[in-house]
Amino acid sequence: MTIQVTKVGRLNSEQVNSVLRSATLAPSTHNTQPWLFRCTGTGIELHADPRRILPVTDPDGRELVLSCGAALFTLRTAIHALGFHPATTLMPSRADPDLLAVVRPVAERTPDPKVSRLARAITRRRTNRRPFLPSAVPRSTLATLRHATELEHAWMPSLDAEQCRHLRDLTARARRVQLADPDFVAELGRWTGLGAGTRDGVPSYATEGSPADESWLLDGFGAASTGTRPDPLVVVIGSLTDERLDRLQAGQALQRVLLTATGAGLDASYISPPVMVRAARAELRRLLGCGVWPQVLLRVGYGLPLPWTPRRPLDDVLLDTLVSA
Ligand SMILES: Cc1cc2nc3c(=O)[nH]c(=O)nc-3n(C[C@H](O)[C@H](O)[C@H](O)COP(=O)(O)O)c2cc1C
Repeated sequence: MTIQVTKVGRLNSEQVNSVLRSATLAPSTHNTQPWLFRCTGTGIELHADPRRILPVTDPDGRELVLSCGAALFTLRTAIHALGFHPATTLMPSRADPDLLAVVRPVAERTPDPKVSRLARAITRRRTNRRPFLPSAVPRSTLATLRHATELEHAWMPSLDAEQCRHLRDLTARARRVQLADPDFVAELGRWTGLGAGTRDGVPSYATEGSPADESWLLDGFGAASTGTRPDPLVVVIGSLTDERLDRLQAGQALQRVLLTATGAGLDASYISPPVMVRAARAELRRLLGCGVWPQVLLRVGYGLPLPWTPRRPLDDVLLDTLVSA
C-alpha cells in the first residue's frame, strides 16, 4: 500500500507523510497508539480513537488522552522542525470531544535550534524499563525538565525525602492491588510480552530485564544514597484540574519532557500504579499537597541502548485519506 496524503497548508504531501510518521512514534499506554489523524486542506486533525481504550486499566480514558497529547506534541515539533509554525487549537469542537486538536502549519519560520534538538530525539526516544546505569543524573536536570513541563502548561511538583518514602510504599501497595485483579492481569497479558511481528502492544524484548513488579523501579528512592548507587530521579507531571483538556496538555508536557531527556542522553520509564489505581492516585494527590492532579510519574536516568517498539502502518491511523494500492 502506498499512502497518498494530500498537501496540508504550507506542507507538501511528502512533508505531511513525514510529520504524521513522526507523530506515531509517540509513546502510548501499552503501545495502544490510540490516535487517528485527518488531513484537511489547511490542517491536520488529531482524534482520540475510543476503540483503543483499555477498559480495565484506563476506564475513563485518561491515559488515552495523555497518549494522544504526546502524539500532538510530536506532530507540532516535527512541523516546527520543517520550518513552519504549528498553529494549534485544542479541543475545537464541543460536539465532538474526540477531536482533540487541529494543527495548521502556517507562516514559515527558521526553526529554533532547541526545537531541532527535540525533533532529532523523536526517533531516538525509547521507554527503558531496565535498571539504569549507576551514574548520577545532573542536579540541573530537574529544573530543565520542570521548565519543559511548564512550557506545556503542566506542573512538576517537588518531592522531599519524606514524600519519596511514602511514594515507594504507595507504589508497592498500588501494584499489589493491580495484580490482585484478574481482569487487570488479563488485559496486561493481552497487550504486553508479545511476539515478534506485532505492530501494536509491547513486545517481550521491550520488557526483558525488568522485574514484573514495578515497585522495584523506586529501589533506593527516598533512602539515603549509598554513594555507589545514586537515587534515581523521579518526577511527577501534574495538572491543576483533571479535565480532558488538562490531560491533553499533560500528555504534551510528557513528550516534551521525554524528548528533552532523550536529547540530554537520558532515558525514562513509567511508575504507573500510583496514578492508575484510583484510590492510590487520590492518596498521591494528597501527598503532593499542592492541589495538583498527578498525571504521570517517571523515573529518569542513564540506560543502555534498546531496540525500538514497532508502530502500526500510517494507513491504519488515517481518517478519510486517499489510499492507493
Ligand atoms: C500515559 C502512558 C503510560 C504508560 N504506562 C506505562 C507503564 O505503566 N509501564 C510501562 O512499562 N510502560 C508504560 N508506558 C510506555 C509504553 O508502554 C510505551 O510508550 C510503548 O510501549 C511504546 O514504546 P516506546 O515508548 O519505547 O516507543 C506508558 C506510556 C504512556 C504514554
